[in-house]
Amino acid sequence: MAGGLTAAELERRLAAFPRLRYAGLPTPLEELGRLSSQLGGPRLWIKRDDGFGPGLGGNKGRALEFFMADLLRKGQRKAVTFGSLQSNHARMTAAACAQVGVEAHLLFFARRPPHPEGNLLLDALFGAHMHYIPFGGGGDGSMTLETTNRLVRLVARLWVGRDAYFIPVGGHHVTGCLGYVAAAAEIQAQAASLGLPPARTTVVMAAGTGSTLAGMLAGFYLLRSPIRVLGLDVENLWKGFPASVARLAGALCATLGEERRFRPEEIPLLGGPSPDHGDGRLAANFRSAIRLMAQSEGIVLDPVFTGKAFAGLLELIDRGEFGEEEHVIFLHTGGLPSLWACGDPL
Ligand SMILES: Cc1ncc(COP(=O)(O)O)c(C=O)c1O
Repeated sequence: MAGGLTAAELERRLAAFPRLRYAGLPTPLEELGRLSSQLGGPRLWIKRDDGFGPGLGGNKGRALEFFMADLLRKGQRKAVTFGSLQSNHARMTAAACAQVGVEAHLLFFARRPPHPEGNLLLDALFGAHMHYIPFGGGGDGSMTLETTNRLVRLVARLWVGRDAYFIPVGGHHVTGCLGYVAAAAEIQAQAASLGLPPARTTVVMAAGTGSTLAGMLAGFYLLRSPIRVLGLDVENLWKGFPASVARLAGALCATLGEERRFRPEEIPLLGGPSPDHGDGRLAANFRSAIRLMAQSEGIVLDPVFTGKAFAGLLELIDRGEFGEEEHVIFLHTGGLPSLWACGDPL
C-alpha cells in the first residue's frame, strides 16, 4: 500500500516522546506447532508480551515505558490509576512506580476484600497505596470509557491530590498507546523475517479498554501494513466501546503526524465468546481453552483476558473463519497473577 511510513520513519517519530526502556524487546514471536496441527486450519503463532515490563510483566509494560517517562519528565512524584480488584494494569503500575521511587496510588471501586489475592497481593508487595471506594466506578457497560476516566480523575484529585499523575483505566490514552504503535512495527519485522505473508496474517488479542488494539490499529495503518488485527471484547465493560477505540486510534495517528479518522464500524472488535457455564464459576469453554494451551504448548493463559480471548479464537477457527493458508498471531498479554485469585479448578 502506498503512502505509509517506513519502520525507520515511524521509529523516528516515536523517538520524539520520552520513553523508559525495559529490557526484553523484541518479545519472542513463536510458532504454536502442536496446536496448529491439532486444530487444523490456520498456522498459529504466539507473541509473548506476557513477561514484558515490571512486576511480572504483560501488555501494560509497553504503555508504562511511555507513561513513566512522561511522569518523570514532568517531575511528578505520585501516580494514580484505577481498575478492577484483579487489575493487571494497576499491579504493573505499582511495580513501575516502585522501580523509580514514585508513590503509586490505586483506586478500587469495591470493598476491601478480606484476603488480598493474586494481583492485590502483589500491589501491596510493591508498596502501593490502595484506596477502596465501594461505590460506582463504571465498567459495567453503562458508561463510556471516557466518562468513567473523567469522573475518576476528579475522585483521584480529591482522594490523592492534584499533584498526582493520572493514568486512565488500562492506560487508555495516547501516551501509553504509543507502546503498541511501536509493537506493530516490531511484529511487522518479525513476521517478515519468519516469512509470514502480511496479507494473510492476523494478530488476535483480548480487548479490555481497547488500548492495545487502538495502538496496533494505528501502527499498522501508519505503516500501511496489510497485517490485520482483531480484538475480542472479553469483558464487555463499556458503552460505545468501538467509538472509544476509534477515537483513540485516530488521536494516535494525529499525534504521529497523520490525519486518519476511524469510524466505529471499522474497528475490528468482536464480542468475546459466550461463557458456557458448567460446574464452576469460570465457564467450561474458558477452562478448556486454558488447558488446551497449557497441555499442547506448556504456555499458561489467564482466566480474565487471554484465556477468554483464546477461547474466542478457538470458536473462530472452529467456524472456519481462517483458511489453512492464513497465519494467526495470538498476542499473549499476560495477566497470570489472577490465576491465583480465580478460585476455580482449571
Ligand atoms: C492480561 C491482559 N490482557 C489484555 C488486556 C486488555 O488490554 P486493553 O485494556 O489494552 O484492551 C488487559 C487489560 O485490560 C490485561 O490485563
